[in-house]
Amino acid sequence: MRTQVGIVGAGPAGLVLAHLLHLRGIDSVVLERQTREHVERRIRAGVLEHGTVDLLRDVGLAGRLLRERMVHHGIELLFDGTGHRIPLTDLAGREITIYGQHELVKDLVAARLGTGRPLLFQAPAVALDGLDDAPTIRFVQDGRPRELRCDVVVGCDGYHGVSRTAVADHAVTRYQREYPYAWLGVLAQAPPSSEELIYAYHDRGFALHSMRSPQITRLYLQVRPDEPVTDWPDERIWAELRRRLARDDPGWRLADGPILEKSVTTMRSVVVEPMRHGRLFLAGDAAHIVPATGAKGLNLAVADVAVLADALGAWAAGDTSGLDAYSARCLSRVWRVQHFSWWMTSMLHRAQDGDPFTHRLQLAQLRYLTGSRAAATSLAENYVGLPLTGGRT
Ligand code: APR
Ligand code: PHB
Repeated sequence: MRTQVGIVGAGPAGLVLAHLLHLRGIDSVVLERQTREHVERRIRAGVLEHGTVDLLRDVGLAGRLLRERMVHHGIELLFDGTGHRIPLTDLAGREITIYGQHELVKDLVAARLGTGRPLLFQAPAVALDGLDDAPTIRFVQDGRPRELRCDVVVGCDGYHGVSRTAVADHAVTRYQREYPYAWLGVLAQAPPSSEELIYAYHDRGFALHSMRSPQITRLYLQVRPDEPVTDWPDERIWAELRRRLARDDPGWRLADGPILEKSVTTMRSVVVEPMRHGRLFLAGDAAHIVPATGAKGLNLAVADVAVLADALGAWAAGDTSGLDAYSARCLSRVWRVQHFSWWMTSMLHRAQDGDPFTHRLQLAQLRYLTGSRAAATSLAENYVGLPLTGGRT
């Protein structure tokens, strides 16, 4: 097989990139390790920044999203039994969109298949060769070894992919922070108990109330990093959520219902520099991981490929300056978002050892945030997202 751009991974990064390239008349092939069903069923986060939605709308990928999404203009910080609303739209001038990432992936897969251009499922890339001058992706399809020759390879294969490992260790600098806790994520057939998201700081640990639709609630609990999900039967989950989301308002109660999915997600920050190695470009989780607290993973992946699509468009016209600037341009945003995600995570999660000094710092930060318009505006600006650069045709 031969193409201009070989894309490894059919997550949000790979699929949005393939579409942006198609709009520019640049041919690509997307190789995905998993089945279509697996990729479309993976429950992940659900908050889209306005810049992400604007881009998806501009390039024709937001049809169902704009019909079915929930638009939110604020979030709530809950601590000491009292909820404090952060009015995002009033402070930062933009709203956020609630729309499950797996729903977006379904839309992106359908759009890709609609172009008739190759999206190969159950086709894992096993090696990347010739990254300096003549890239070849070696992959397996129907049990047979195959090769994809391309001008450029883009690693959109996430944290466990092969593209990052295709680069010699000495050529990569990896920055990493592991957090001493994880999230137990729950998808429940229960109507949301709040119009907006609730971020709860509690002595027993962090909790988050989110949602997917008027019938489906998405909830998270801070747990130990090695916590087996089997330690959390449904009734224990609901009891713990009720305790951590409790508030002084006697009329408020957490609606519960059948739990459709539960899983434990580790919390880590990772950045791999640079994001380019010869003719290999890394995008999305293949290049960086953020703790889920700031809901930034998907949005950062889209921001990367928006920059890369413009750069590849210029490259196809003979101008390589965009590709030369890709890594530095993306890393500037990546580190801003990494800081915000680390800051939100450190503020809201109870220290595992219950350290009283940390506890008082966290409460002081929360009280300042909910008492100062300037502080709340800083949170709001970062939460709704910085303007996207690039991506439009
Ligand atoms: N060959 C082909 N595909 C692969 C390989 C491989 N060797 N390794 C991994 N993949 C696929 C995975 O199956 C997955 O579908 O690459 C895709 C990577 O997608 P994501 O992990 O979703 O990463 P990305 O597209 O960067 O999106 C980041 O997704 O995981 C969430 O929290 C993350 O919100 C963030 C967003
Ligand atoms: C979600 O709805 O999955 C979600 C929302 C906000 C976050 C993280 C996850 O910060």
